[in-house]
Amino acid sequence: MDTDIFESTMRRESPDRYFQFVSRLERFIKARRLALRMQAYRVQCHFLCQLGLLKFLFSVLRRFRPVFIFRKLLIVTQAREVREVLERFDDFTLGQSIEPGMPWGNFLMTVDWRQRHAEERKWLQSAVYLTADAARLRAIIDARCQQQIAAAKYQIDIVSELLEPVVVDIADKYFGVPPLAGSTRDMAHAMRDLAGIIMVKPPVGSEPWSRSRSHIAKITDLVLNEISGAASSAAGSYPTAPGGTLLTRFVQRLGTPGAPDWFDQDWIRRYLTGLLATGGATIVRAAAGAIDQILAHPDALHEARKVAIELDQAMRRGDDERTNTLRTTLRHFVHEALRFRPMLPLLVRDTPRDSVIAYGTKKARLVRAGTRVLAPPLSAMFDREAVPDPSSFDANRPFDQYLHFGFGARECFGRYIAEIALLEVFRSLLLLKGLSRTKDAKGQLQFDGPVATGLVVTFQ
Ligand code: HEM
Repeated sequence: MDTDIFESTMRRESPDRYFQFVSRLERFIKARRLALRMQAYRVQCHFLCQLGLLKFLFSVLRRFRPVFIFRKLLIVTQAREVREVLERFDDFTLGQSIEPGMPWGNFLMTVDWRQRHAEERKWLQSAVYLTADAARLRAIIDARCQQQIAAAKYQIDIVSELLEPVVVDIADKYFGVPPLAGSTRDMAHAMRDLAGIIMVKPPVGSEPWSRSRSHIAKITDLVLNEISGAASSAAGSYPTAPGGTLLTRFVQRLGTPGAPDWFDQDWIRRYLTGLLATGGATIVRAAAGAIDQILAHPDALHEARKVAIELDQAMRRGDDERTNTLRTTLRHFVHEALRFRPMLPLLVRDTPRDSVIAYGTKKARLVRAGTRVLAPPLSAMFDREAVPDPSSFDANRPFDQYLHFGFGARECFGRYIAEIALLEVFRSLLLLKGLSRTKDAKGQLQFDGPVATGLVVTFQ
């Protein structure tokens, strides 16, 4: 009552001061709300990057409540149910949770209609010539690694001076999207923001939110420009050989007989932007995490270095069979290192209708429509029923124990690119003698939001 009297008196006697006061108060409340939402955003990012607390929480749940339901939240923590959630495409959907992180429009990950998802994925896949593209990607990545390492003097930031230039090259020479304003650094930062908003959504109006909007606008202009440049020279001839880039291969298919009716220039824009978002900073975060973990396991580092040296020798000799065997051996080290710091520790789904999880087992539970589901590869890959002796670093585990690239119909589309990038970067770094972290804070993996931004190592 008193405040009502105060307000009406102030309004009557000094209207200017009153409105100034109200607008200041509104600004203050808005700023406090944003600050609180930013705090929540930072906490989420922290837990996705420093995985200790999640590992502990999941280990408790795996033991006492492997299928944990609290109101509208389901967390599954054993490998079997994590795979079950990921495999049941129609019962546990992705579109709703991922859509706000992809404001440039529909992309494979936002499509929940199974048949349409399969069609679009097949069409995307049809532009990939696996064998030829793999050789080309390996050459692009190897050349950039050599160049960056040769330019470094006994010390390198593996994020900004190695991995980011590598992914910008992949975007340029394989996807067909050149660096923003010709700058590797600007492009790498745009790719950070594109991936960052998919992983954790920053609050609307915050600094990371504004930055990502501005980068999406710039990337959209850039992609549209490349599409129209390619369209003026190439449309209408269905490509049958692995030349060009993904962008030019799609532009060449515009208007060709047999192309799906939903396929147009806008599809190319949305999908190329999607590939930049899902295929840039993801490789950086994964590779930086894997290197961080091999450094954290000195015995494994020693063994992996021996493999890398032998691999290098086999490649120089032109011994293809031995090269392939050693690549597979080194890949085991990459996957095992990544297990301790998976790129995506949690995968999210929604439940469009009532469903049952772990049907026919003692763990079976009813999952109500509207439930948000967390299916964490981080937990599945530490489930001792699926991964024996999970706390030890063991580079002999079968590949099917890992869930780094998801599972089922949504398994990572870019896995063929990511595996080559991870392996080549790993090989190049392991060949450096005396590889170790710097002793200061820069020798620890740094993050901005959910994306990796720095890890400095030294070598002799
Ligand atoms: C080491 C790097 C990478 C890791 C660890 C990774 C991991 C994953 C995972 C776990 C999923 C499944 C997501 C889910 O089920 O919710 C996924 C999906 C996807 N990834 Fe990757 N990814 C990587 C690199 C890439 C690259 C390089 C590209 C493309 C150029 C890419 C494109 C995609 C796409 C398009 C999907 C969605 C597939 C679908 O919905 O059908 N990823 N990735």
